[in-house]
Amino acid sequence: MANFWQQFNKPILALAPMCGVTDLPFRLICKELGADLVYTEMTMVQSLSRQNPAALRLAQLDPSEQPVIIQLGGREPEHFRAAAKIARQLGAAGIDINMGCPAKKIAGNGSGVSLLRDLELARQIIEATLEGAGDLPVSIKTRTTIKLPGQDQTQSSQDLLRFVADLPIAAVMIHGRNFEAPWSETVNYDYIREVKNFFPGIVLANGGIYEPEIAKQVLDQTGADGVGIGHGVYGRPWIFEEIRDYLATGHYTPKDWNYKLQVALKHLHLSQKIKGDLGLPEFKKQLLWYIKGLPGAASYRDKMAQINTLSDFEQALRDFPNQ
Ligand SMILES: Cc1cc2nc3c(=O)[nH]c(=O)nc-3n(C[C@H](O)[C@H](O)[C@H](O)COP(=O)(O)O)c2cc1C
Repeated sequence: MANFWQQFNKPILALAPMCGVTDLPFRLICKELGADLVYTEMTMVQSLSRQNPAALRLAQLDPSEQPVIIQLGGREPEHFRAAAKIARQLGAAGIDINMGCPAKKIAGNGSGVSLLRDLELARQIIEATLEGAGDLPVSIKTRTTIKLPGQDQTQSSQDLLRFVADLPIAAVMIHGRNFEAPWSETVNYDYIREVKNFFPGIVLANGGIYEPEIAKQVLDQTGADGVGIGHGVYGRPWIFEEIRDYLATGHYTPKDWNYKLQVALKHLHLSQKIKGDLGLPEFKKQLLWYIKGLPGAASYRDKMAQINTLSDFEQALRDFPNQ
């Protein structure tokens, strides 16, 4: 699977990494419904390098989801080296480094997006990951900019990519928002175009791609090799097929309830099969996403609080008013 990045037809449609969302069952569903490439949830290198069972669960892969990327987070180069080796043994097609997470417990300890403030450390992390990864491609996921401590001056992911231009980074997914306004309504797609203009590897544009029409606009505006979809997949893992249809024909057919129900049931069964009893409560939020916005959804939320077993879930889905 070495160098899989070069084997795609473009544009590449990727499921962006999301903690608590892109677990194995959901990745399998997205893959089946048109995602070219899927990322795991971020796994912290300290835990993975110690083979902590929870970290190993996050990094659990299935051959049918290939190519799959294990995303690593943390700030210690040594742990990145060890974790990358383990990710390789676990069968990842590629390894991604999280340099974009703004969450307090990640960015607050110098990991995630905070690595944009310390280019020397970021370089050491990339070098260590490349060593641990062997012949597997290494990519980065990051944002636009972050302010330097106590200053108005910012440091950007473009600064980082120029600083490490001598290293063989296969791809970068740029979330076009900055650290200080991590969920702003506007996404800086021009920034992503600038990256595409100088970065020699694959560039995936990310942020705000909630509809197939937006995917096309973003691809046109950025010239990127593909897109990473985050919130757009909530309750809509078929968005990859819709984007592909829209790019090819200018149209896509919205799915009816029966189609959504079949996907949701399959997702439910995969969650239970792969995660056992843990899979059911974790599926609850996905189930609410599948019905979100549909007539009757609000009154169903309360009902959801009461359900626990696989057959409760199945029944709840089947009882949902036909749309
Ligand atoms: C619940 C949640 C969890 C996320 N977890 C991760 C993560 O583990 N690693 C990462 O690089 N980005 C993570 N992100 C960021 C997304 O990958 C993506 O960059 C962001 O949501 C913007 O894309 P969107 O506008 O399409 O949602 C997460 C986002 C959300 C909403």
